[in-house]
Amino acid sequence: MKMKTPVLEALDNLKKENSVSFHMPGHKGKNTLINWGDYIPFIDTTEVTGMDNLLEPRGVIQESQENAAKVFGAKATYYGVNGSTGSNYIALATITKPGDKVLVQRNCHKSIYNGMVLNRLTPVYLYPEYNENYNIITGVYPEEIDKILTEQPDIKAVVLTYPNYYGLCSDLKTIADIIHKHNKVLMVDEAHGPHMTFSDKSPISALQAGADIVIHSTHKTLPSFTQTSLLHVGSDRIDLNKLRDRYQLFTTTSPSYLFTLSNEISIAYMDSQEGREKLDWNIEKAKEVIQRLNKVDRVKVFTGDPTDKTIFGIDIAKILISIDGMKGSQIKKKLLSDYNIRLEMSDYYYALAYISPMNTDEDYERLVAAIEDMAKNAPYQEINYISIEMPEPKLIMSPAQAYYSHKMQVELKDAIGKVAAAPVIPYPPGVPLIHAGEEFTKAIYDYILLLMENGLEIVGLMGNEKDHIIVVE
Ligand SMILES: Cc1ncc(COP(=O)(O)O)c(C=O)c1O
Repeated sequence: MKMKTPVLEALDNLKKENSVSFHMPGHKGKNTLINWGDYIPFIDTTEVTGMDNLLEPRGVIQESQENAAKVFGAKATYYGVNGSTGSNYIALATITKPGDKVLVQRNCHKSIYNGMVLNRLTPVYLYPEYNENYNIITGVYPEEIDKILTEQPDIKAVVLTYPNYYGLCSDLKTIADIIHKHNKVLMVDEAHGPHMTFSDKSPISALQAGADIVIHSTHKTLPSFTQTSLLHVGSDRIDLNKLRDRYQLFTTTSPSYLFTLSNEISIAYMDSQEGREKLDWNIEKAKEVIQRLNKVDRVKVFTGDPTDKTIFGIDIAKILISIDGMKGSQIKKKLLSDYNIRLEMSDYYYALAYISPMNTDEDYERLVAAIEDMAKNAPYQEINYISIEMPEPKLIMSPAQAYYSHKMQVELKDAIGKVAAAPVIPYPPGVPLIHAGEEFTKAIYDYILLLMENGLEIVGLMGNEKDHIIVVE
């Protein structure tokens, strides 16, 4: 080959690294259930006779999706080939029309924000709790949703994230009942929770809780390829004809059979006795690991806070580790550099290990040994604890209006009084401080400076010095 192939090189290096994976995808680079070498390249086919068509399924794909729906307890299930991102776009476009008002959990994923731009929606934001005892974003209060829907009956649908990025689950059953009492639709981005259907040791799934439309990233916690996802319909409140139409609007006309098959076999596997037993074993092992780590000096793994009424359940697929005298980002970095263990993410306070049914005893034992060693030997550094009380900015125009306007990059101090055209998101809490369409105020400016002084990671700041943002001209 004449052209250099840096991606191939990087992947070869990753293969050689052979690290322990506590990050996505859920197959952990170990087990994708079948020997793909037997199928590739001929499996990379197109809609030839006998192979059905994901966009208009009438044969094997229809049958497969119907089987999947039965497994998840859905009225209908659709395989996605563009991650939960694509499935979120489809779901949002199905439950709304341009100009609609939606109640959206403020710490939703970027794909929901982008979906609101694509579908020209006007958001009302539902702010989750920030738990000051543990410096972590927790859940939402059902009563607050009831209040907002009573005060603003023109809201068409509610969009929630469950579980959140830290594995925490709000009281979704009560929330679903409230939303349905108001005759609204509940969409749940359950990207992180496809495994929860398969174990009664997990919090209930969004479909079990009564959600109308649910999105799963199969690739996050099941042994499925990156980019695979599912869209489930839970009730008759969803117009299936409209969904089919929006599915076609947002899906490639050449959907991958590799992804379609990976969706199918990962679900079939999880529905098998082996799949369920492996998941249960991993949950029990994770619990044991958490107990052991919590006995180690300097180490704290989050196990809940009974005083926080927004935490209704905890998805044990996430192990949230902190070490006294270390930032979360330092823990994550050191685990890779010194112990060859990759974690999913980190913030100022925590490092997060993401498990799946494919993790093994050896993975966990290496994690425990590494954390023990780090807690014993890593230098102690004073961590400045910051109170996260974020200002709630005013919406001046819809995210789409801001997004499609003339935009410019300005220094933070010059942004005061202007309308943001892109988000600024500090970690923690991972909740946008400001988003497209909202007013940039002096309070927000001061808050960003405070976070910067304390070295928090802030996504969305531009320029070499990371002291600019994008605003509406
Ligand atoms: C809550 C949530 N929703 C949606 C997505 C998008 O998922 P995907 O990467 O499968 O497109 C993510 C990705 O991290 C996520 O965390």
